[in-house]
Amino acid sequence: MTSSLPESGDRTLPSVHAHLREASEAAQAQAWAPYSHFPVGAALEADDGRVFVGCNVENASYPAGVCAERVALGTAIASGARRFARIVITSQHHDPTPPCGICRQALVEFAPALEVYAVAPDGRAVRWSLAELLPAPFTPASLENV
Ligand code: THU
Repeated sequence: MTSSLPESGDRTLPSVHAHLREASEAAQAQAWAPYSHFPVGAALEADDGRVFVGCNVENASYPAGVCAERVALGTAIASGARRFARIVITSQHHDPTPPCGICRQALVEFAPALEVYAVAPDGRAVRWSLAELLPAPFTPASLENV
């Protein structure tokens, strides 16, 4: 099925970011997804070039599961990173997998201008800005002057 999300067009991941796809796919291979059978990987690049990876971690209590993107973000924050340039998301699905709404919200806190790439197994990639994926976000500024 073709995605109906706003897209900047199908393309391949720029080769300068190939290491992010590799890192994401390596994390994806570690996913704990026995319930959905939908392993996902994510590689989040900080402004200083450091790369933090995550995979989805599901749970027998289904709502306790967490997405690959938020696992990567949590690792990054715990390592002291606060600003991020881009994230690459991979899965086994033939269409590139976009981040879910909760992950968009989690990411916008730290990186409103994040570049988001989703890469399919055949290398087809879709690029969005996080602002495209999450218009009118709720941010720290939304809490000011109550
Ligand atoms: N999932 C992610 O890890 N990231 C996404 O961007 C989409 C969905 C996970 C959550 C769940 O473990 C499985 O994929 C199926 O929804």
